[in-house]
Amino acid sequence: MKKVVVLGSTGYIGRATLDVISCQSEKFTVLGLAANTQKDLLLKQVKEFNPSFAVLTEKSYLRTENIKKTKFLYGQDELEILATHPEADIVVMAISGLAGLKATLKALDAGKTVALASKEVIVCAGHMICGRKGKILPIDSEHNAIFQLLEKQRRKECTKIILTASGGPFLKYRGDLSMVSVEQVLNHPVWKMGKRITVDSATMMNKGLEIIEASYLFKVRSEKIDVVLHPQAVVHGFLMFHDGFMKAILSLPDMRYAINYCLNYPDRVPLKLPQLDISEVHNLTFERIQKGRFPCLDLARKALESETSYLVALNAADEEAVNLFLNGSIRFDFIPCIIEEALHTHKPVDVNSAEDVLDVDRRVKQQVRKFVRSFAGKEK
Ligand SMILES: NC(=O)c1ccc[n+]([C@@H]2O[C@H](COP(=O)([O-])OP(=O)(O)OC[C@H]3O[C@@H](n4cnc5c(N)ncnc54)[C@H](OP(=O)(O)O)[C@@H]3O)[C@@H](O)[C@H]2O)c1
Repeated sequence: MKKVVVLGSTGYIGRATLDVISCQSEKFTVLGLAANTQKDLLLKQVKEFNPSFAVLTEKSYLRTENIKKTKFLYGQDELEILATHPEADIVVMAISGLAGLKATLKALDAGKTVALASKEVIVCAGHMICGRKGKILPIDSEHNAIFQLLEKQRRKECTKIILTASGGPFLKYRGDLSMVSVEQVLNHPVWKMGKRITVDSATMMNKGLEIIEASYLFKVRSEKIDVVLHPQAVVHGFLMFHDGFMKAILSLPDMRYAINYCLNYPDRVPLKLPQLDISEVHNLTFERIQKGRFPCLDLARKALESETSYLVALNAADEEAVNLFLNGSIRFDFIPCIIEEALHTHKPVDVNSAEDVLDVDRRVKQQVRKFVRSFAGKEK
């Protein structure tokens, strides 16, 4: 029995993880769950999976008098107790944003295997998390594909990593992007995901973050990582070799495949999911992305070529701009302008600890809000 901790259990990845676990109850038990605001869902998950611990990071309390087996903990710091628990065999990190950064670092230092979905953590602290004692298994489907493909002894023969991008809801859209609504942006044609990553898929910042993620996870420079548009989202990643061969990983677009792979690693274990029938796939298309077509993608590459704190600034400015778009304060097409301004005015600093990362994150978000307020003032 592997004991699993799921941090961010109430989100899309967290729920998909519990779904995979419930299909293999003879192999996995849930040691701990953690959520932020969705109290009722957390309680429901506790009743179904009987974990030893449940953490609610937002300090509002749960009615738990009828639950005997689970110890309830409250507050952000309690995530680290779960992430480093001596009995935990695998920690699934599926918290959006940087709230899981410290817990990820602590889990890796404690030698835990971390199945990592939270891409913000790798983007902002890739230089700190890679190379620690514990092992990182990437859940993000493209990186999971490359992880499966890349054999250590063949690394030198590999000339390129190619990540695929579905292109989001506006790939074929010919209307005015300044007018699109929050509902249109959140209507992703393939993947069901949290709000931030769905907006990031529409701007292509998600793919920009994934280039950075791949660069840290697989220790390759930006110019060795390409992105192609592939709306069907069946091929998740390619490796290109110097003798002209390519390898690819294909599956139906469902995050449970990658989660199942990580939970069972290094074994491959079948999961009761509809499987890809290649004879039914009649149309797989791949398209090169011209520079300038998606400004967020170019901004991410630029940040990757600069000092590390630019990556933190990029992520912070994007997260804040996405929030401002979601709450109706800015237009969709303003998101890249805000990020560009934040990078332009960013003064690089050393980031050697979680506190350094969180400090840059806080300052850049403040600066973005100030910039948007002053811009709104001028518009009036
Ligand atoms: N969804 C995908 O297909 C996908 C694919 C690849 C990578 N990812 C990455 O995986 C992460 C999660 O994505 P998602 O789509 O599952 O997002 P989501 O649905 O928005 O879920 C986010 C989870 O994080 C929790 N959370 C947020 N702030 C927290 C805090 N301060 N402390 C503790 N927990 C906190 C939320 O708790 P409450 O809901 O209780 O507030 C929720 O459980 C993101 O980093 C995303 O980029 C997602």
